Order: sequence, then structure tokens, then C-alpha cells
Amino acid sequence: MLGVDSSRRVLSGMRSTGTLHLGHLHGAIGNWVQLQKEYECFFLVADLHGFSTQYEQPNMIANSSFEMVMDWLAAGINPNNPIFLQSQVPQHAELFLLLSMITPLSWLERLPAYRDHNETLQDKDLSTYGFLGYPVLQAADALLYRAGLIPVGQDQVPHVEVARSIARRFNYLYGREDGFEQALELAQRKLGKKLSELYGRLRKQYQEKGDVDALLAAKALIKEQSNITISDQERLLGGLDGQGRNILPEAQPLLSPHSSILGVDGRKMSKSLNNTITLRETPDDVVKKVMGMRTDPARLRRTSPGNPENCPVWSFHKLYSKEDTQAWVQQGCTSASIGCVDCKKPIVDAINEDLQPVRIRAAEYEKDPGYVRQVLVDGAEHAQEEAEATLDQVKEAMGLGRFY
Ligand code: TRP
Ligand code: SF4
Repeated sequence: MLGVDSSRRVLSGMRSTGTLHLGHLHGAIGNWVQLQKEYECFFLVADLHGFSTQYEQPNMIANSSFEMVMDWLAAGINPNNPIFLQSQVPQHAELFLLLSMITPLSWLERLPAYRDHNETLQDKDLSTYGFLGYPVLQAADALLYRAGLIPVGQDQVPHVEVARSIARRFNYLYGREDGFEQALELAQRKLGKKLSELYGRLRKQYQEKGDVDALLAAKALIKEQSNITISDQERLLGGLDGQGRNILPEAQPLLSPHSSILGVDGRKMSKSLNNTITLRETPDDVVKKVMGMRTDPARLRRTSPGNPENCPVWSFHKLYSKEDTQAWVQQGCTSASIGCVDCKKPIVDAINEDLQPVRIRAAEYEKDPGYVRQVLVDGAEHAQEEAEATLDQVKEAMGLGRFY
């Protein structure tokens, strides 16, 4: 069996939190739509993660999961990618359990997301085992698919780092073999004389001089070999920077562009603040929401000049408008020669144009929810196959079920 090329594989996930809005479209989802053109992508609906904070709202999680997938497809995620619910691929729960055995509590307790929640959400009891273990489940999500790249927002980078630490610890604990050097030598020999020498040279260059290009070249070389076993591939990879097999490859975070769009009230666009423009907003509602948008409070009167920097409408112009329109806003706002209604009109048009293809696709999927369900069934099946292959290796490395 041929190994997975982790550097070509992306796993992305989102917690089931309900309908998506423009902030998502110009942040995470837009990025996914691009990534799917270049990489092998797995798209995960993190419904189990939903329970880590919303455990008392099972119906909300179920509905959100479905609506979110609808929105992904409407936004242009290709249904041929594996798209699946975390709960429908039991391997997530199983790897989560195994990884939890080797994850130090201190790695979890010091994470900003955990500390912030505990400090700010005091009205809600999140002192659960599941909430603390959130990053371990997320690590399992990524590691199950041997994904090399995890697209996330800035706030999630520490979680990806924990996933890397867990993978490293796992490899250290269960990838070590007695006689690793001999096993490595044997594996190396299977490459043939020329490639074996090349591997040896690159390994030395990396280990002695820290030459990262040599490391990447060696990794590429190993991945091209289709006639050696996975275990030998793992030995050759592991031999580059350690003493054992790299059973779980370490994933890198891939920073999603930050969406600068503000909500209609000038705060961050967020469902919980009730200030969003959703992906499936009707053209009329877009008019209503934009026309009702807060503006620079200095422009109480049409004749008072304002400053776009103090106005959420400007955050939309920065994204949607060309330079000449932006200059028109700057000039018109600061001199009070245009009114806020004038200023908002091009935004209404831009948003409606942006959302038009999304609405058309959404309408098709809404008419055929059975299709969306089938996408999830197929996605889970595909995901299970990949996940099971990894889990088999994990269990083998841990010696689980060795008696059969
Ligand atoms: N924690 C992520 C968020 O809140 C969602 C998530 C779950 C995720 N599993 C993942 C993201 C795996 C990337 C990879 O946005
Ligand atoms: Fe905001 Fe435009 Fe009004 Fe200025 S003119 S306050 S930028 S809406």
C-alpha cells in the first residue's frame, strides 16, 4: 500500500454553530474554495465539538450541522470532496480516547481558548471533561487523515500546535523500535544504491547543518517510492529527525485570511451578536440591513462631516469597492458632500452581486435536501476508509489487539 502524501492533504473543520455569514465567506470558506482546487481536501462538520459548549442544545447542533453543509455547498465547496459529520466517523472518538491517554493536562489547561472561556463565560458551566479535551478531539480530527495542512484562523493556531505536540509525543512513545538504526539501514537498502546514498547525504545535511531544504528533498524522495512498505517509509521519515517511525505526521497550520468586515452594528460580525448578513439573505433583506447599518456617530446630520475609519460601512468599501469609489467615499464623507444613504448604495449592490451565485446554488440544494444527506453519507464512507487505515497503524504501534 502506498503512503499518503501529507503535504498535499488538507483537513478543515468548523463547529456546528448555525448559518454562515459574510465574515465566513471572506475568511475561512473563501479560502477553502481556493484550497480545494489545489489540494486533496477533507471537510469536517465538528458536531461533537458542538457538544463541548452547547451540550444542552442537541437540536440546535443537529440543525446547524445540516444548514452549515448547505451553506458550504452554496458557497462553492465541491460536493465531490469528502464532506462529513465528525459523529458519523467513529474513528474520531476512538483516536480521541487513545490520544487522551498521552496528553498532559498542562498542555490543555494553558490554552488561551480554555482560559478565556473559564474567565468570561461564568454564567455557563464549562468545567466539563469534554471542554477541556476539545483540542485532543481536534488533534484526532487532523491526525486521522494524515493531513499536512490545517487551515485555521489565528485563534485556532494554538490548537494546531497542540496537535503537533501530541503527534510528536505519540511517535516518540510508540514509534521507537529496538534496533531502529538497523531497521533504518535495511529500509534504506531497499531504495537501491543510488537513492540510498542520496538519502544518507540529505539526512546528514539536515541533522548536522539543520538544512531544511535537504529535509524537504528527502521527504519528497521517500514519498515517491511506491515499492517499499509503509513501515519502511515511516522509518525513513522518522530517521530524518528522530529515533523512530513517524506514525502520525505533524500538521502545519495554514492561516486563513482574516475578514475585516464588521457587523451591521460596528462590532465584529458574529452570530451571537445578531449583527450578521448571512449567505442566504434575500436581496430585500440586504437592502434593509445595509440601510439600517450604524455609521459614524459624528454624522448625526446630513451636513456634519464624518470619518470612514469610524464607520462599519467603510469596512465593506475596503473589501468590495474599487479605488475610485473608495476615493469618492473618503472625499464625500469627510466633506459631507455625500449622505450615508448614497454611500451605502454601492455596498448593497456589491453584496447582492457577491451573493447571487450563492443564492442560486442554495435554492437548488434547499429543493433537494436528500442530495445533501447523500453527500454526507458518501463523505462519511470515504472518510471512514481513510481514518481506519490510520487507526489500524496507531493500534498496531500501541500493541492493541496483538493477540489476534
Ligand atoms: N475548533 C475549530 C473551530 O472552532 C473547529 C475544528 C474542529 C477544526 N476540528 C477541527 C478546525 C480540525 C480544523 C481542524 O473553528
Ligand atoms: Fe460611513 Fe459612508 Fe456615512 Fe461616511 S458617508 S459615515 S463612510 S456610511
